[in-house]
Amino acid sequence: MAEWAASVPTDGSVELPPDPRTMEAIGRNHSFETALADLVDNSVDADATHVLIRFVRDQGRLCSLYVVDNGHGIGPERIDEAMTVGGRRAYGEADLGWFGLGLKAASFSQANQLTLLSRAKEAPAVGRRWRIDDAKTRFLCDTVPESFAEHELEQDRGLPDTGSGTIVRWDQVGGFPATDNESHVERFVSQKVVDASNHLGLVFHRIIESGRVTIVFDVQDARSTSPSSPIEVESINPFDYHRTGATGFPKDLKAAGDRSLTFRCHIWPPRSTARQFKLGGRPADHQGMYFYRRDRLLQPGGWEGVHAPHPKLQLARVEVEIDRDAEALLRMNPEKSRVQVRPEFSHACESARAEDGTSFSDYFAQAVRVYEAGNKRRKTRKPMIRPGRGFSPGLRDTIDAEIEALGADPVDIRWRDFDDDRFFDIDRTEQTIWLNKRYRKMLLGDRHAGLNDLPLLKTMIYLLMEDVFQGDYLGSRDKDNIELWKSLLTTAVRAERR
Ligand SMILES: Nc1ncnc2c1ncn2[C@@H]1O[C@H](COP(=O)(O)OP(=O)(O)OP(=O)(O)O)[C@@H](O)[C@H]1O
Ligand SMILES: [Mg+2]
Repeated sequence: MAEWAASVPTDGSVELPPDPRTMEAIGRNHSFETALADLVDNSVDADATHVLIRFVRDQGRLCSLYVVDNGHGIGPERIDEAMTVGGRRAYGEADLGWFGLGLKAASFSQANQLTLLSRAKEAPAVGRRWRIDDAKTRFLCDTVPESFAEHELEQDRGLPDTGSGTIVRWDQVGGFPATDNESHVERFVSQKVVDASNHLGLVFHRIIESGRVTIVFDVQDARSTSPSSPIEVESINPFDYHRTGATGFPKDLKAAGDRSLTFRCHIWPPRSTARQFKLGGRPADHQGMYFYRRDRLLQPGGWEGVHAPHPKLQLARVEVEIDRDAEALLRMNPEKSRVQVRPEFSHACESARAEDGTSFSDYFAQAVRVYEAGNKRRKTRKPMIRPGRGFSPGLRDTIDAEIEALGADPVDIRWRDFDDDRFFDIDRTEQTIWLNKRYRKMLLGDRHAGLNDLPLLKTMIYLLMEDVFQGDYLGSRDKDNIELWKSLLTTAVRAERR
């Protein structure tokens, strides 16, 4: 072999700017939901307290989408950088932005036209528009007259006024139905709102829970002044269980080495039906690592090679914070919807230990044991009739998780006026346990009355009496029990009143 040159010699350079057609390639991995999340990222970075996502209809047909925020806005000196593909700025410690791509990539993945209108405090309104067809050939961005930008920004859309804010507007949205059929469009919008709320509620759950931002959806008819009533995005916290599945968990497993990386390993209680456990799919699909960067969820689940997904591992979820140290082991994709792990990541997992010595394989074994025990225990328990109205939703979830449900109608527990001082009555035709309203105020103390009030008392009554709602008729033993409970509980509640 000829002598090998350690470096390549050059004899000049030519400038090769990217062909504008590269614009077509960006954002290809976005869905409608992830694209919206990218825009909300920018609003959060701009310290917006409110973000409105508005579908605009004209003569029945969906024509545009607006994402409006009341953040600090963009001044005339920064608007061009904001519209530049890859126009990176100096990012702060807590900023979600990183690539200088999000706004453009997210928008062109969904729409042919992107308009950015913004106003910083005490600055004139500014506007720019990209049309994908122009961008593909010339990289020429249109400027929008100040008067139009100002007019749009001045409209009251129900966001608290901060004196600044930004509108991102999409036109010619590829995914919108090309019909003006009212019921079709309505169904489309409601489905999109549900899907997008679920995604945003999960991705931004920490940021929503901390009260930093409120995100709402609405629909506006271009020819009417009043929009539909707003639907607020609720946070969906994938670690929000009522009770841990195993004592001692969650456990923090710390990777060895000089890079600090902590895996907070959780075990969900078995067979939960909670929305934040199911996450709109089968529970087994959502096991694994949940990567957060600056409180924004990048990836909901997946074992990243540490383990193969397994139905028996469905209770195992791990919180991982990506800070500067961890960035050496992981990379996020530009859509911020996944992370890619580097080879060192699996070493970090292998080396990770809790203070008590627990390793990842111990954790997996424990999660499997909890799952198996939950399945077995649930099968050996006597099935019960589900609690219905009057019980807190949390109780219903827990009971679903613990016990097989009987097919019968659920048992309700409710308050009504009695003409005597009995504490409760059993109504088998209505499947209802009636509680005597005259004791309600006293039992509540200074708490508010509500459909699901007094959960502890109601749960104890349910445990005691659920049995008598089973079967076609009341046996003599049941009847006698009911008389006994009436006598005892009425005496007790009277004593309490005194
Ligand atoms: N809603 C907004 N409010 C204020 N400034 C914004 C808003 N949206 C975009 N910007 C400005 O435009 C810039 C470009 O946004 P873009 O999403 O394309 O990139 P980025 O947020 O910097 O990085 P990333 O690609 O990681 O999202 C932002 O850095 C910010 O300065
Ligand atoms: Mg961004």
